[in-house]
This record gives sequence, structure tokens and C-alpha cells, in this order.
Amino acid sequence: MAKIGDIDVGNFPLLLAPMEDVSDPPFRALCKEQGADVVYTEFISSEGLIRDAAKSVMKLDIYEKERPVGIQIFGANLDSMLRSVEIVEASKPDIIDINFGCPVKKVVSKGAGAGILKDIDLMVKLTEAMVKHTHLPVTVKTRLGWDHDSIRIVEVAERLQDVGCKSIAIHGRTRAQLYKGEADWKPIAEVKNNQRMHIPVFGNGDVDSPERAVEMRDQYGLDGAMIGRASIGYPWFFNEVKHFFETGEHKAPPTIAERVEVAKRHLEMSIGWKGEKLGIVETRRHYTNYFKGIRDIKPYRQRLVTTDAPGDVFGILDEINDRFAEYTF
Ligand SMILES: Cc1cc2nc3c(=O)[nH]c(=O)nc-3n(C[C@H](O)[C@H](O)[C@H](O)COP(=O)(O)O)c2cc1C
Repeated sequence: MAKIGDIDVGNFPLLLAPMEDVSDPPFRALCKEQGADVVYTEFISSEGLIRDAAKSVMKLDIYEKERPVGIQIFGANLDSMLRSVEIVEASKPDIIDINFGCPVKKVVSKGAGAGILKDIDLMVKLTEAMVKHTHLPVTVKTRLGWDHDSIRIVEVAERLQDVGCKSIAIHGRTRAQLYKGEADWKPIAEVKNNQRMHIPVFGNGDVDSPERAVEMRDQYGLDGAMIGRASIGYPWFFNEVKHFFETGEHKAPPTIAERVEVAKRHLEMSIGWKGEKLGIVETRRHYTNYFKGIRDIKPYRQRLVTTDAPGDVFGILDEINDRFAEYTF
């Protein structure tokens, strides 16, 4: 049974990865409904939070139904990180997660995200200071290292644990790899196999089928899987993995009616949360996967991503429901 601090997250939990512009409250709620055990917000800038930048502050919203939820923050300045912890606490998350893995240039160039992998002492110091500054469990999400020649993740993870980090999620790529190549889970297993490690070690990167989740659990012996891209527009992925764990068989994919129902609720929640304009626009990236694989879907998808009036978008979803009602996946 894995525990993040005092939070019991079950046996081999499935965690929804933090994803910018994806892991917002509506999507997190749907993933939770569909079996995610822990969900994370997209990353939030500590500098933005302390400046009270509206966009950063809005990202702190959480729904009760998605708990346990972790709010992820990033930054490289100790003072800003500590001040943002206080702001984050007011939103009452269950976990505060630190992003030490974002590879994007504008983040890395400031020494934040994966940039900190060039300064492990600072990484440990920031984590320690944050742990001391909050009563909430602090967790870390990171990559294997800066580049292939500087992978010291076993030592890094142990040092983070020693200063009070309550779990670590490791994306099996280096910063230099960005999203290229295949994620390497072997170094993550080495972290787990370190006899001194007692906090949960979660694996991340390329879990895109129930079989791969089984592999991560049984062959690599990790404590849970963090899932990103496979869930975009497909929140059912979590329950499909769980069904496979329990039965060794694949769960039947959702029917058209289920897909349309979830897509509609997603859109409704997004509009409710962000307002009409942003709600419509930001739900668009999910439609491709909601209706992936359906022959002749293209013209409908095209209309879904170019229509602005909510009533019309709901109308297109109804049309999909009627036209493809008998479709079998
Ligand atoms: C669209 C997108 C946005 C992301 N945003 C974040 C983020 O805000 N914070 C973070 O730690 N990782 C972020 N990531 C990385 C993911 O959390 C995850 O580590 C990566 O996608 C590998 O997992 P996967 O193969 O299951 O997708 C993002 C990834 C994607 C695809």
C-alpha cells in the first residue's frame, strides 16, 4: 500500500500527470471519476503567484471531488517558492508538488524545472526549505538528469527523501531528450531498489497501454504509474488499466454514447470554470482522442474545433451520437 505522507493512495496507484493546459479542474475530475488515484494540477509559476498574476491564481482552483490533489509549482528562487507555498496552502490541496522536470527553455533558462538538475544542491535545499515551511506533504517530479552523462538520480532521490520529500515521480528521460526516444525505466528501478529508499517511487513516461503499466509494476517493481499523454481525451485509460490488473483482460472501450456524454460534461465543466470562450477553446484538444479511430469522424472533428457557440458545439456532439450510435471499436 503506497502512502504519500499520511495519505493512503492504494496499491500501485495511478496518478494523473501534471500537464499544462490539460490537467485543469474539469479534466482532473473526469480522470478521478475514471479511476485516477491521485491527480496533479498543471505547473504554476511561483513568481506568477506572488505577483498575483490572474492566470496563475486561477490554476489553484480545485474541486472537492478530485481529492487527493497535488498543486504543482515551479521556480528557482527560494524566497518566491516559500511565499508561493503560503498562497498554495490557502487553496487547501492535499499535496504540494515541486516541478524539477520541465524541459522548456524559458523555464530552464531561469534555473527552474529541469534547469535545477544542473544544481542538485539547490534542488535539495529548495525541497528542504519547502518541507519545513508547510504542514502539507511535499513531493517532487523530476527527470533522470540533465543529460545522459549526468544521471545521478539514485543519489538525488535519496537526498530528497532525507530532507523530507514524501514521494518522487520520475520521468524516464533526461532534459536533453525532451520528449524524444523512449523513456528508460531502468534508472527509476535503481532508485526503487536502493535499500535506503522508503518513500514511494512513481514511474513516468510512455505508459500508454495496460500491458506497459503491468510491466512497470511487475518487471520494474515501482510503486505506481504516473500517466500523462495516454489520458488526454481518454480519461477511461485509468479504469482500463485497473480492469486489466484485476482480470488480465482488456476492458471494452467506451461506446459512442459514453464518449459523447463525457465530452459534453467536460465541455460543460470547462465553460462553468473558465467561461464560455476559454471553455470552448481549451476543450478542443481533447476531441481528437475522444473520437479517435472512428471512420468518417473527420468533418465532425473539424467542426468541433472551429465552432464557437456552445449550443452549436453541443449540437455537433449530438450529431456524432446519432450518426455513429452503432459504431463498434
Ligand atoms: C501537454 C503537456 C503538458 C505538460 N505539462 C507539464 C507540467 O505542467 N508539469 C510537469 O511536471 N510535467 C508536464 N508535462 C510532462 C508530463 O507530466 C509527463 O512527465 C510526460 O508527458 C511523460 O509522461 P507520458 O508519457 O505519460 O505523457 C507535460 C506534458 C505534456 C504532453
